[in-house]
Amino acid sequence: MAEVAVLGYGTVGSGVVEVIENNRDAISKRCEGLHVKYILDLREFPGDPYEDRVIHEFDPIVNDPEIKIVCETMGGATFAYKYTKACLEAGKSVCTSNKELVEKYGAELSRTAKENNCSYLFEASVGGGIPVIRTINEALTAENIESICGILNGTTNYILHRMETAGLDFDAALKEAQELGYAEKDPTADIEGHDPCRKIAILASLVCGKKVDYEQILMEGIKDLSITDIKYAKAADKSIKLIAKCEFKNGGCYSIVSPRMIDNSNPLAMVKDVFNAVLIHSDMLDDSMYYGRGAGKLATASAVVGDAVECANNIGKTINCGWSEEKAVLSDINELEQSYFVRVKNESIDAFKAAVKTKDRVIEGVAGGETGFFTESMAEGEFKKTIAALNGVVGYIRM
Ligand code: HSE
Repeated sequence: MAEVAVLGYGTVGSGVVEVIENNRDAISKRCEGLHVKYILDLREFPGDPYEDRVIHEFDPIVNDPEIKIVCETMGGATFAYKYTKACLEAGKSVCTSNKELVEKYGAELSRTAKENNCSYLFEASVGGGIPVIRTINEALTAENIESICGILNGTTNYILHRMETAGLDFDAALKEAQELGYAEKDPTADIEGHDPCRKIAILASLVCGKKVDYEQILMEGIKDLSITDIKYAKAADKSIKLIAKCEFKNGGCYSIVSPRMIDNSNPLAMVKDVFNAVLIHSDMLDDSMYYGRGAGKLATASAVVGDAVECANNIGKTINCGWSEEKAVLSDINELEQSYFVRVKNESIDAFKAAVKTKDRVIEGVAGGETGFFTESMAEGEFKKTIAALNGVVGYIRM
């Protein structure tokens, strides 16, 4: 039986304990078994079935030679960093759902793990319960991954889904997401795109084997999308999704998080509600998609415990994630070629069409006094420069 400590007894931490206890038999078939010895939290949990295991000090955990695996579900990058580093230095493997910590220090903590013959695993940090990191690191190792497009944030996918299916405006859909417990009281990280940006930075880092900083990624959230944009997408037989994307070409990596108007035939268009999905295009396999719950107590906890099982089977060894501390330099996003959907005031159509190559199909009658156009593929920088010099562009969405 491998003894486990859980750091942080919040939603995911309590889920980790629940998965280990409820699925004890299944887990024991796949490793020597897991047993939760300590739960670290500042709070008391009177009446909780595991309250006898709750402690308030970290030292007993790091100093206990019986503890081989630590599940870090505290969140944040200060105490979580300090405790993770100390555990790894003590030769204890750490499994986490903490995307902020992984994005910021994942490469360094992976090195620390290697130096101490243990592992730092973070499957739950991207796409919650969806096994996408193990897929990239193990199943797709014979492939050249050419692009990753992900719906990596459940809250914003829910908001867009409700705008599309119930005709709610952005504020009403956000309020509903908050009432249902999907969106935080302060929803900034989700709606402005920081959360999916961190997640795509982690995936891009794993693919290129270098550290992609999320601050380098062009990020646009969904808060400026209107119900009129959604109506345009519907009229065009398309859907609007917040897509976190990285494209590997010409030896570089382009990465961007932004709303996109995608064809309803694109498999990402069928990802509704709070679900997440990751569409990977690789050279031999072609497209493969990984779909499931990207958040939530048990889905996320399941991925943390799956990592703990892996660690239990590799005590004294390092499970390598092939991530180095060398900084990746992202390619200039202004070079990325894509099409755009553009809303243009009717009196400005001639000037717009003289400046931008458009497709024949137009969308009329969705909003008074304007028309929607689809551009031919053009570089991001060229597109932005062109429309900045035009009057009458109401808005645009990448495709
Ligand atoms: N706020 C995140 C989401 C939680 O809505 O997807 C999971 O990282």
